[in-house]
Amino acid sequence: MKNQLTPELTRRFFLKSSAAIFAGAVAGGYTLRNANAVALKEFRLQAGQSPIRLVPEPSGVTNTWCFNGQVPGPEIRVRQGDRIRVIVDNALDEETTVHWHGMRVPNAMDGVPHLTQTPIASGSTFTYEFDAVDAGTFWYHPHQRSFEQVGRGLYGPLIVEESAPIRVDRDITWVLDDWRLTADGQISNDFGNPHDMSHNGRVGNTVTINGRVPETFSVHQGERIRLRLINAANARIFGIDFGEHEPVIVAIDGQPVAPHKPEDNLLVLGPAMRVDVVIDMIGGVNQRYTLTDTFYRGLKYRLVDLVYADTPLRERAPGWDMQLPANPLSEPDIQNAERHEVTFNGGMMGGMVMQEMGGSMGHDSMGSMGSMESMGSMMTMMHSGRIWFINGVAAEGHIMDPMLTLHHGRSHIIAMTNATAWHHPIHFHGHSFRVLSRNGRPTSHREWQDTVLMAPKERVEIAFVADNPGGWMFHCHILEHQAAGMMGVIRVTEPGERT
Ligand code: C2O
Ligand code: CU
Repeated sequence: MKNQLTPELTRRFFLKSSAAIFAGAVAGGYTLRNANAVALKEFRLQAGQSPIRLVPEPSGVTNTWCFNGQVPGPEIRVRQGDRIRVIVDNALDEETTVHWHGMRVPNAMDGVPHLTQTPIASGSTFTYEFDAVDAGTFWYHPHQRSFEQVGRGLYGPLIVEESAPIRVDRDITWVLDDWRLTADGQISNDFGNPHDMSHNGRVGNTVTINGRVPETFSVHQGERIRLRLINAANARIFGIDFGEHEPVIVAIDGQPVAPHKPEDNLLVLGPAMRVDVVIDMIGGVNQRYTLTDTFYRGLKYRLVDLVYADTPLRERAPGWDMQLPANPLSEPDIQNAERHEVTFNGGMMGGMVMQEMGGSMGHDSMGSMGSMESMGSMMTMMHSGRIWFINGVAAEGHIMDPMLTLHHGRSHIIAMTNATAWHHPIHFHGHSFRVLSRNGRPTSHREWQDTVLMAPKERVEIAFVADNPGGWMFHCHILEHQAAGMMGVIRVTEPGERT
């Protein structure tokens, strides 16, 4: 089945009065609306099956699930302050939804099945509509059985341009993905197998940039590129070594950060994370430089080669300013914030699934898992797919009681402990948070993120103002971990609601 739609479906409406756009637009309160929005931009996405050439010939094409017959799905590109309307058609054989990862949308537009909407049935349509409150690099993907739907290719970039962007020669988006392909180039059907679920997720064997196994990327000497990196993989963590080139990080998860070089010149992106870097092409004409992914010990590989053209663009790197304008985020009041503790448990460790029994075991008493009784209940947990726990609870499906209820308008600190032997990129919907500290040490940039990668045993403190009412997902973005329980709901009360 082929679902080719015209990619050029952007319509632009200039409205005389901003009041007109909001009339009857979407039910529910817009707390983050931009009253000055002047443009409504409409897009159509159709989720369906399509053959895609991921791997160069002589390999065959790969049967994927994707949006509008392309991997990644079409880039949704708007200006900050625009209103976005996306009409989603579901041509899959199963239910789906679309989540706008990192966008601070009203709860009803968040795309979480059963929590914020009824899933979009096969053959039906749902219209999403929300304002681009923040400028930055975002992405979209289903939230319904995401470990398979995203894993088969359903995702796309969503770019919100600043009204006054920083100056660069080229603005490039690289959507990184990782596929598990069989010898004949098809997607391996072992989605959600117990091993992936209980270890580091579905790490594949084929890495693509913008839906294609990359060979080379052409650049010019002296050129300045803004590179927007999006990790759309289910589970693979990327650690990109730029070699002689020195990328400068200007935004993380869409949010501006003081321009700085990555530690050890290694750019680390957990699943769902985005990093915007500015790179000056300091190499010489006709030269070739290799970018390497070195994240997993002993498994480093060549990601892509930068190939310089035979003519320079300019002699030396330009000195243009790299600082992006701030987004309208509420600054948390750290002194008066409410504190919450969250512990992640579970997963394989020494051949056993480590879980929180009875809810009272701290991360330091995890070793005591010997009794036959707990072994038995462990096996039951594994068979039911409950392998990972947040504060002792493994989620099943998207319907669940809130693990935390936060007062609207208040500042909150969540102190998170990764009591497992694995990395976890922890994502919170509807908000961006400041990463305050790691293992008790203040971070150097107090970066705003929506997905924070936690190393094994790491403690991370995040802070934010709960300014977006509704029920929001809080989960690991290794999609197999999410499916195996590492997911919860944080509820933000309605303004003025008493609890
Ligand atoms: Cu990118 Cu809950 O998702
Ligand atoms: Cu995880």
